[in-house]
Amino acid sequence: MEPLRGDGPDLTAFEDFVWGVATSAYQIEGAVAEDGRLPSIWDTFSRVPGAIDGGDTGDVACDHYHRWQEDVGLIRLLGVDAYRFSVAWPRVVPTGSGEVNAKGIAFYDRLVDALLEAGVRPFVTLYHWDLPQALQDRGGWPSRDTAYRFADYTTAVVEALGDRVADWTTLNEPLCSSWIGHLEGTMAPGWKDLEAAVRTSYHLHLAHGLSAQAIRAAARITPSVGIVNNLSPCDPATDSDEDRAAALRLDGHVNRWWLDPVTGRGYPEDMVRLYGVDLPIQDGDLETIAQPLDYLGLNYYFKQVVTADPDGPVPYARQVEVPGATTTAMGWEVDANGLERLLLRLTRDYGAERIYVTESGSAWQDTVGPDGTVDDRERSAYLEDHIAACAAAMRQGAPVAGYFAWSLLDNFEWAYGYDKRFGLVHVDYETQARTVKASGRRYAELIDASRRLRVA
Ligand code: FCB
Repeated sequence: MEPLRGDGPDLTAFEDFVWGVATSAYQIEGAVAEDGRLPSIWDTFSRVPGAIDGGDTGDVACDHYHRWQEDVGLIRLLGVDAYRFSVAWPRVVPTGSGEVNAKGIAFYDRLVDALLEAGVRPFVTLYHWDLPQALQDRGGWPSRDTAYRFADYTTAVVEALGDRVADWTTLNEPLCSSWIGHLEGTMAPGWKDLEAAVRTSYHLHLAHGLSAQAIRAAARITPSVGIVNNLSPCDPATDSDEDRAAALRLDGHVNRWWLDPVTGRGYPEDMVRLYGVDLPIQDGDLETIAQPLDYLGLNYYFKQVVTADPDGPVPYARQVEVPGATTTAMGWEVDANGLERLLLRLTRDYGAERIYVTESGSAWQDTVGPDGTVDDRERSAYLEDHIAACAAAMRQGAPVAGYFAWSLLDNFEWAYGYDKRFGLVHVDYETQARTVKASGRRYAELIDASRRLRVA
C-alpha cells in the first residue's frame, strides 16, 4: 500500500470502527414513475426552468433501481462494513399518507437482504429531501400535519425492515430542507420565505421526534436511532466585534439551531429573536423533539469564514474567501481540521456519546483516461486527510464510531445536476457503466489496513 500522507491517519485509532459509503434515493435510483412511485418535490422542482444546471433531473440518475445488484457488488468490492442509503417516501407511500405501496417496500426489502448477505450493515435514512408532492400540495413542511404523516410513513418502513435493519436515521440535513429549500430557494420546493423556512425547521424537528418514537415502537431488533446534520465551524474574518457577532449568528443559523432542540436545549434565544418568527410550539413538543439519541450523525464539507453583512439576508453574515485555500469543484474550501473541530465540539459541548461521520467527500473535475480509469488523486488525499482528522479527534476523546464516504457513485448533485461528481465509483451516464476510481481503491486499501491492525 502507498504510504500515508503526512502524519496521518493513524489507523490504530479505528478498532471496531464502521467504514461505510453513502448515497440517497433521488440522487441514484431513477425509475421515478415505476412500480407505483409518484412525484416528490424534487421531481417537480427539477422541472422548473433554470432550477438545475443543465436542465438535469433525477428521472434516470444512476438507474440504481434496476442496477442495485451490481451496486451491491461494488459496495462489497470496496470492502466497507456499512452502506448508508435512503428510502424514498414517494415509493413507499406515494401519496404521502394512507396506502402503503407493496412494490415500493419490496425494492428496499430485496436491497436489505442482499446487503446482509454480502455482510454489509444497512444504515437507513428515512428522509433525504424527497417529500411526496401530494403532501407539498397540502401545505408541505410549513404545515404541522406533515410531521404526523412522516411518523406514519416511518412506521410502515420499520414494520417492513425493522426485523433486519438496526441503524436508522430520521432526517438528513434538515438545514437544507429548511434554509436552502424555503429561504434561499435553490432546492425543492424553491421558496424564499423566512416564516415558512422557520416553520419548516420546527416541523422537521417535530417529525424527527415522532419518527424516533415510531422507530422504537415498531423495531423488532434493538434499534440505533439518530439524526444527521450538516455542520460548519464558523469563524470571524477579523477580530472586530462586528465580525465576531456575525460568526456567532451564523453559528446559530447553521449549527445551534439544529443541535440544541434535538439534544434537549430548546431553540437558541438569540436566533428566535433574530428570525422574529413565532415558533408553533404546542404542549409537549419540545420533549417529543428531544428524544434520546443513540448517535449524532455529522455531514461535513466545509468551514465558513464570515464578515458582518448588515444589509444582506438573515443571518447578516457574508462568507469571505480564505486566501490560498484549496477549493473543490463545488468551490468549497478543503479544511480537514474543521472536521476535527466539529467532532470535538459535539463531544464537549453536546455530550455526544457516539458520532458517525455520515458524509464526507469531495467533487473534482475527474478526467477519464482512454481506458476508462479515473486517477483522482485529490479525492484520495481528501479522504485520507479527513480520516486523519477523525483519528485526531478520537485521540482527544471524541467517540467517533464510523465514517461514510460520500458517495458510492457519481450521482445527481441536486441543483448542480450531474456535472459535479462525488463518487468513489465513476458513472458514465450514457452507458451507465461503473468504474471504480483510484480513490475507491485507496479507500478499500485504508479499510483493509485498519482491519489488519485490528486483528494484529
Ligand atoms: C449533502 C447532501 C448529499 C450530497 C452532498 C454533496 O449536503 O446530504 O445528498 O448532495 O451534500
